[in-house]
Amino acid sequence: MTVILSETQTGAERYRLTLGAETKVVPTPRELLDWIEQDPNELLIVIAPEVPLNVAVELSKHYRTVRPALGVILVRQRLEVATLSQAMQAGIREVISSDDAAELLAATRRSQTVSEVFTDKQPDLSPAKKGKMILVFSAKGGCGKTTVSTNLAEALAMDPSKSVCLVDFDLQFGDVAVALQLEPAKTISDAIRMQHSLDLPGIRSLVTQHKPNFHVLLAPLDPSDVEFITPDLAQKILRGLKDSYDYVVVDAPPAFTEVILRAFDMADQYLLLTTLDTPSLKNLKVTLGTLQALGMPRSKWKVVVNRSTAKAGISVKDVQSTIGMEISATIPNHEIVPISTNQGKTVVEASPKHAVAKSIKGIAQEITGVKIAEPRRGLFFGKKR
Ligand SMILES: Nc1ncnc2c1ncn2[C@@H]1O[C@H](COP(=O)(O)OP(=O)(O)OP(=O)(O)O)[C@@H](O)[C@H]1O
Ligand SMILES: [Mg+2]
Repeated sequence: MTVILSETQTGAERYRLTLGAETKVVPTPRELLDWIEQDPNELLIVIAPEVPLNVAVELSKHYRTVRPALGVILVRQRLEVATLSQAMQAGIREVISSDDAAELLAATRRSQTVSEVFTDKQPDLSPAKKGKMILVFSAKGGCGKTTVSTNLAEALAMDPSKSVCLVDFDLQFGDVAVALQLEPAKTISDAIRMQHSLDLPGIRSLVTQHKPNFHVLLAPLDPSDVEFITPDLAQKILRGLKDSYDYVVVDAPPAFTEVILRAFDMADQYLLLTTLDTPSLKNLKVTLGTLQALGMPRSKWKVVVNRSTAKAGISVKDVQSTIGMEISATIPNHEIVPISTNQGKTVVEASPKHAVAKSIKGIAQEITGVKIAEPRRGLFFGKKR
């Protein structure tokens, strides 16, 4: 349910009209505190324009630590930069103009989604987690980074006792939201406004839930936000995610950006992709040379050939001899990949027995050291004779 802090009777009626008759209205901060205390399931506070900003800020600061699932939305007559910045620093989820009832309703829904991340049956998100981070990279575009990272995250999340966060670090052209058909509850852009006060609950609030144990940190909706996501901010976020999830899978842009270099620093394993064409292979060689020069430990490198069955005149053996390194895994070329993506599903989810899904589950298995569960055979479709 939603509780509204509104000192005036007319204001209270207006909000009830927008948000539903069952919405609770309280006239003073004291009554608000009492109401929240007696209802542990309360998930949203809306603060009306006549309530002073400092009161709203104090309330939000208080609840963001003691009740992180509880969202605060601030309604103001005018949206001023100073108000927005104070509000965001205090952890207020959204600031809405008082004459925009539709936006207020939409904001309450977005806040609800964020709250669900905290209240759903969650895997253990204790700060001591120290999860494993896997970076999926190729310097050439279109080699399959998004395909591999989404499918790998799905495969890792098949164990319901493990928590997985997929990070879309292709900050300008990230397409994980589209690939998984996710409605962005929040994106990494929300971190920009709270970067000075970005704590662990703040970092955890940035994700959008795909499944109870599979969350996604989405790329900005506006590509120009990329300039505000500094390497330090990116590093802080990754550290917070590593502290919160068993596995953090990072989908990279096709370039050595400063942000991605921080991800290389922090990752436990790199999946370095290539396809069977000379531009990809050349870029893979350059990538390996760059990682070598940067002193990134070889023990973390895993070269994966994607679309390995495509008839291209270059074989997997050719790749091995060109780079002077073993290939860790191959993923076959198959139309099931674009077909699944167009349906907003991973191959691992839509066709778990397909060779593409099996290859990616094999990679997941190497990472976890545990066999990834196969879907159960139906009673009448048992072993082949
Ligand atoms: N194994 C595969 N078989 C068939 N098609 C594939 C395979 N892997 C990827 N593709 C297709 O190749 C295209 C590029 O894949 P994807 O978007 O995953 O690459 P990317 O490296 O993330 O690209 P970008 O660098 O633009 O982010 C997509 O259309 C995808 O469906
Ligand atoms: Mg991509």
